Formats: sequence, structure tokens, C-alpha cells
Amino acid sequence: MSDTWANLGIGLHLEPAGRRVRAGLEQRIRDAIQTGRLQPGTRLPPSRTLALDLGIARNTVAEAYGQLVAEGWLSARQGSGTRVSEHAVAAGDRPAPAPTAAGRVRYDLRPGQPDVTLFPRSAWLAAARRALTRAPYDALGYGDPRGRIELREALAGYLARVRGVRATPDRIVICSGFVQSLALLCATQRSGGARRLGVEAYGHTLHREVAAATGLALTPIPVDAAGAATYALTGVDAAVLTPAHQFPLGVPLAPERRRHAVEWARDGDRLLVEDDYDGEFRYDRQAVGAMQALAPEHIAYAGTASKSLAPGLRLSWLVVPARLLEAVVEAKRLADAGSGALDQLTLAELIAAGAYDRHIRRCRLEYQRRRAHLVAALHRGVPDARVAGVAAGLQALVELPAGVGEDDAVAAARERGVAVEALAAYGATAQMHAPALVVGYGTPPQHAFSTAVARLCAALADITPASSR
Ligand SMILES: Cc1ncc(COP(=O)(O)O)c(C=O)c1O
Repeated sequence: MSDTWANLGIGLHLEPAGRRVRAGLEQRIRDAIQTGRLQPGTRLPPSRTLALDLGIARNTVAEAYGQLVAEGWLSARQGSGTRVSEHAVAAGDRPAPAPTAAGRVRYDLRPGQPDVTLFPRSAWLAAARRALTRAPYDALGYGDPRGRIELREALAGYLARVRGVRATPDRIVICSGFVQSLALLCATQRSGGARRLGVEAYGHTLHREVAAATGLALTPIPVDAAGAATYALTGVDAAVLTPAHQFPLGVPLAPERRRHAVEWARDGDRLLVEDDYDGEFRYDRQAVGAMQALAPEHIAYAGTASKSLAPGLRLSWLVVPARLLEAVVEAKRLADAGSGALDQLTLAELIAAGAYDRHIRRCRLEYQRRRAHLVAALHRGVPDARVAGVAAGLQALVELPAGVGEDDAVAAARERGVAVEALAAYGATAQMHAPALVVGYGTPPQHAFSTAVARLCAALADITPASSR
């Protein structure tokens, strides 16, 4: 990697006049990367320097860099400046650059990611330093496939305090993401004789794929305004639900259905997997506690750091019923012999120091503010759209005005540079719910959020038929 920066100003041949300076600069940098003149890893000049060289505003350069980072051509790291992304390759090896007119994604309102710019870098670094300083030598060897005891102890306390989970450290298995937690549970269910798994009729395709890959046949369970229709859990041997905040409809499981699901699991000696992916983020009231506490011997509680910290950590946790523990731990041992110890120790330190709680509080305030902004902007700009579900989590279900279809809404948003997801993208069966978008408010960084929402509202207002305005 080069430590001095590329001499861009001379080679760019920019015409520093007119309103298209930024677009021109972006294109020149893309061209330079595509033709191989700028190699992966090459450091670009600081925006101030390049702006002086080219005689243009520093903001113009910073915005161009930002855009190219978003497109994946450049990467920006604190302390190491802006570099040509290691994944940016010469022409012929990658698709043509994103078009500059309609269709380019400037604002990502798809669900799935928290705002990773909120990641508590300093607290994480401090915790990592403490963790490594204190780590016994055995932490650097092969260990218990369940994970480090320090993290399992910290989580047992944290989950009991914050989510009402009944957990002891010996029942906790640290995994690499809910995807692995789910795979281990499904595989052990399958080898224990289970054949059919109930999954909510709306959810992540990936999760359905992971479950199906273990050999289980999937039965979609309808979801409505009261959450999963638990009365449809007949004929399945196990089920996965998102009781605190159905993904993606955004409703909590109604109390009578919670009771029914617990009875279904307990009375039939079946397994219910509680996917509590965003249980800490409820804004209108105290979050409903985890269902697991009602039947810890029949409900496996699954949590993740993907929403609370960052999906890139690939850290999640399972609280496993005693009778399934041995099989799940053996499946984890065979899968990877245990998750990486250093991140586990760091998270344990973060929790013990109270920094994890502080981070969650900070994120909760930020996402609450964003959700309120989205709801208010839609109310003003597209009054016939309706935000369904409770005030929670990192995404909202936006039911479209009468006469507006999901594909048209997605395309209209894309025309304005905004990416959103159609509800149909999550359906296990043909559409049952009224047309809607799933709008994530985690991904755009703070400074871009209101523009993203304004553009989405303008796009929806544009395609709303006059009769429903
Ligand atoms: C419904 C649901 N479950 C679980 C997860 C977490 O998945 P993982 O821990 O594999 O990143 C997500 C994250 O997007 C989710 O939306």
C-alpha cells in the first residue's frame, strides 16, 4: 500500500467550472481506477489538498469522495485517509459504474443494517485493550465450543436484566450471527427427528434458506396485525418466531398468541425459537420481555449484536433448553470449534463496563428520532400512506396509498436515488398483505437521513393517484 497520496490534481484534467464539477471529478476518479492508473490501496490526497490543487471547493471534493465510498470505489478509514478500495478492480472485471442519471442509489433506506457510523469505536477499542491485557493464555488456544465464559457470564446478567431472559452461563452458546444460531438449532432438530419447521410467512429469505438447507420442510405461518397466527402451528415440529417485533410487519405478538405459542411448545414438547433481533429498540413503552422466560425448557432464545452494534462482528448468542444443550454444543463444535475469542472478550468487557448499555441508549434515541421524522414526513407529504406496526426497531412498514403498487413505488424511489424494499421481497408465499414498503432507517448516516426521507416522500407523492390524495 502506498503511504504517499496519488498525484491526482495533475492527472485529472478537470474543468473546474460549472455545476457538474463534482460529477466530473467522480467520473475522472472512477475512470482512473478502471483503467488501472489508480491501483487498489492507493491513497488519495486529503480533500483540502486536492481542492487547492484543482481550485475547487473542499466540500465538492469531500462529497465526491463520499459518493465513491458509498459506491465501493474508495474506502475511508479514520487515521488512514481515503484509499482506492481493495475490491475496486480494473475495467472488464467489474460492472460498469453506476449511471449518473435515474437509478443510482444515493440513499439506502433498505432494512437490515444499523447505522454503523454509530459504532462505539473508542469504547470498543478501550474494551479490546483491556480484554487482551487481561486475557489468560488459554483464551488464545482452543476453548469451549460454547464460547468464552466471560461473555457468557456477562450476557446471562445482561439478558436477565434487559430482556427478562432466564439464562445461566452454561446454557449460553455464542455463535457467529443468528444465521448460525438458526442453522445449529435446525440441524439438531432435524437429526432429532423433526421434519417440519413453522416460519413466519414474512421474514428473511436467507433465514428460510438456512433452515431448509438442514433438511427441514418449511410451513409458512400467516402473519397479521396480531403477529404470527399461532393457531396455524398445527402439523409442525418446531417453529421460529419474532415475537417482540415481527420482521418485517413490525407488530408484537399479541398476548393471547404468546400464551398459545408457549402452550403449543410446552404441551407438545416442541421447540420454539425466539428470534429477538432488535428487542432493545422499543420507543413508545418498555419493551415486552422475552417469551423464553415463560417456558425456558421449550423456547430457545436467540439474540445478536447485528442490530445493537454491527452485523460485521458476526456475534450472536443462544440460550438453549437443557435437553438440547449437548446436541447444540456438539453441532457448534463440528461447525467451527467455537467463535473467535478476542471479540467475545471485548464484548464481555464492553457489557461489564456499562459501555454497551450506554451505546444502546444512544442508538435508541437516534433511531427513535429517525422513526418520528419518517412518520411525520410521510404524514405531511403522503397522507394516504400509513406506517404500520409499533414504534420499535430499525425499520418501518409503510403501507402504500390505494392504487400504488410495490414495484412502482420501489422504481419511483429509485428514480430519485433512494433504495427501498418491497414487502413482497420477504414473502414466503404469494402476497397476503396490502402493498407496502419496508423502510429501514438505520443505514443512512445522520446527515443524509432527512434528504433520504424527503426524496422518498416526493417519489410516493408523485405516483399517488389524484383520487386517493
Ligand atoms: C429478523 C432478523 N433476525 C435476525 C437478524 C440477525 O441476523 P445475524 O445475527 O445473522 O446478522 C436480523 C438482522 O438483520 C433480522 O432482521
